[in-house]
Amino acid sequence: MTPDSKMRLSAIAKRLFPDFATRLVLRRIAFLPLDLWDAALGHRDELTPPRGLWFIGGGNFRGIGEQFLDYFIRFGKLKPDDRVLDVGCGIGRMAVPLTRYLSTAGSYEGLDIVSQGIEWCREHITPRYPNFKFCVAEIYSRHYNPHGRLEAASYRFPYPDGSFDFVFAASVFTHMLPDGVKNYIAEMSRVCKLGGRCLFTAFLLNKESCHLIASGKSTLRFQDGPQQYCMVIDPAFPETAVALAEQFVTDSLNQVALTVQDPPLLGSWCGRANWTSYQDMLVVQRR
Ligand SMILES: C[S@@+](CC[C@H](N)C(=O)[O-])C[C@H]1O[C@@H](n2cnc3c(N)ncnc32)[C@H](O)[C@@H]1O
Repeated sequence: MTPDSKMRLSAIAKRLFPDFATRLVLRRIAFLPLDLWDAALGHRDELTPPRGLWFIGGGNFRGIGEQFLDYFIRFGKLKPDDRVLDVGCGIGRMAVPLTRYLSTAGSYEGLDIVSQGIEWCREHITPRYPNFKFCVAEIYSRHYNPHGRLEAASYRFPYPDGSFDFVFAASVFTHMLPDGVKNYIAEMSRVCKLGGRCLFTAFLLNKESCHLIASGKSTLRFQDGPQQYCMVIDPAFPETAVALAEQFVTDSLNQVALTVQDPPLLGSWCGRANWTSYQDMLVVQRR
């Protein structure tokens, strides 16, 4: 199934069942036979959640986590003793490989708006790795948390200034609107220590990607979004997938203490020929 057809299927599901919790229950039921089969045959280890809980997208749960750990080390210069913040940690896909990489001197904090994911991580990861902690943020998202009472655009991360060496958001700004992203960039900068690094992924709108979208080459069919500086694939549920103007992202970084050292590592999402990963990726340094 292509990313676009997956998104279209998800758009239909959302119209039938607008509430995230209902969709998650239905997903659990749909995947129950496969999850029971995996459990009976011992195909799933204790740090891999059942497929019915993978609200973060399909694919190879362990493989994607390992791939990102490689990006964190290679591009983000992650070290075993680092204090790490995972913004939008989902159900621990990035945390699990980090349990293997981070030493007991290092630490990990995961923050997300879906309580079911955080509960799973607290039950399965923290008891085995006490330096891994997880926190729910009650933030509204039509797609992920329609009952959230806080806004991403004004949310303050629950950590003191300069708490982390490495802050990342993997496949999170692809589900947030520009006003929230702008605030999250400022918060990532605030909680990152001087000289620390931040890594995030996005669908960046620039001359090349806009041209590819307009000529039908993109894997996602983006159209005008509800705010300036963005495009979305489903205006009724904008956070399903959001692309952000590259200039807007660069300006937001320049307005806080984050220095862009290298150009973005471009992604294949829009149908370009040379790419590093599926989404675009940026690594910046706190000055
Ligand atoms: C595609 S999933 C990626 C999850 C995780 N980063 C990973 O790669 O496995 C997007 C995640 O972003 C989270 N999210 C969406 N909006 C958010 C927000 N405003 N603050 C924190 N997390 C958010 C969702 O709940 C979801 O877990």
